[in-house]
Amino acid sequence: MATTSNLLFLIVLHATALSLIGCYAANQLSSKKLLFVFGDSLFDPGNNQYLNNSMPSASTSWPYGMNMNNKSTGRLSDGLLVPDFVALFANLPLDPPCMQPRADLTNGANFASAGAGVLGESNGVMNLNAQLTNFKKVVSRKGKLHVATVYNGKNCGVGSYKLCKNPSEYVFFDGGHTTQKTNRQLAELLWSGVPNVTGPYNVKQLFEFP
Ligand SMILES: *[C@@H]1O[C@H](CO)[C@@H](O)[C@H](O)[C@H]1NC(C)=O
Ligand SMILES: *[C@@H]1O[C@H](CO)[C@@H](O)[C@H](O)[C@H]1NC(C)=O
Ligand SMILES: *[C@@H]1O[C@H](CO)[C@@H](O)[C@H](O)[C@H]1NC(C)=O
Repeated sequence: MATTSNLLFLIVLHATALSLIGCYAANQLSSKKLLFVFGDSLFDPGNNQYLNNSMPSASTSWPYGMNMNNKSTGRLSDGLLVPDFVALFANLPLDPPCMQPRADLTNGANFASAGAGVLGESNGVMNLNAQLTNFKKVVSRKGKLHVATVYNGKNCGVGSYKLCKNPSEYVFFDGGHTTQKTNRQLAELLWSGVPNVTGPYNVKQLFEFP
């Protein structure tokens, strides 16, 4: 999406999860931290391929995913995205695309959708409204919400690119989307950046809230 401001944020939900243990089905209350992700192509783990009327996207084929066991998932990068690294730093499994059939959403979900904007309706894309509507459907139990720092960038929206030998030497994998290496560095800043870089809280602090 040329000239749109990127739309990216993470929510850490401190949920009180009800777990069923053993054959007694004893209820145990445990505080569990979940990660919810909203955004556009920089955070989308492949939601659009599951949407009705979505346009075929190059992100579901090579070279996208070339540094992820050569598996194209719909992520617009050679490998993992920023929210994937945040999940890894938090010792959580990677958030699945919320639209993926039978996705395990017990540790959170990723609602991000490539091409998403704050306003308007586009076919085959989940804009912010749709992402939040789906979030409400997924979160059945109320918890304490902490909203993480917004990473706000500009997408230069260049259409074509030339594949480089070693994407980890570059910031961008294609015209508007960052490489796994860059995503890891951005995730490290989000996760544990110092206050003058990441504020008022970094994501690690959000996870540490009681
Ligand atoms: C796609 O369309 C089918 C059939 O109309 C509908 O049942 C389904 O809910 C739709 N899925 C989404 C994600 O909108
Ligand atoms: C990844 O897939 C591409 C395209 O199918 C292929 O050319 C390449 O050899 C594969 N790389 C590895 C490491 O398997
Ligand atoms: C942030 O503060 C540290 C010292 O705590 C300083 O070394 C660093 O240059 C600052 N970074 C920015 C971007 O201002």
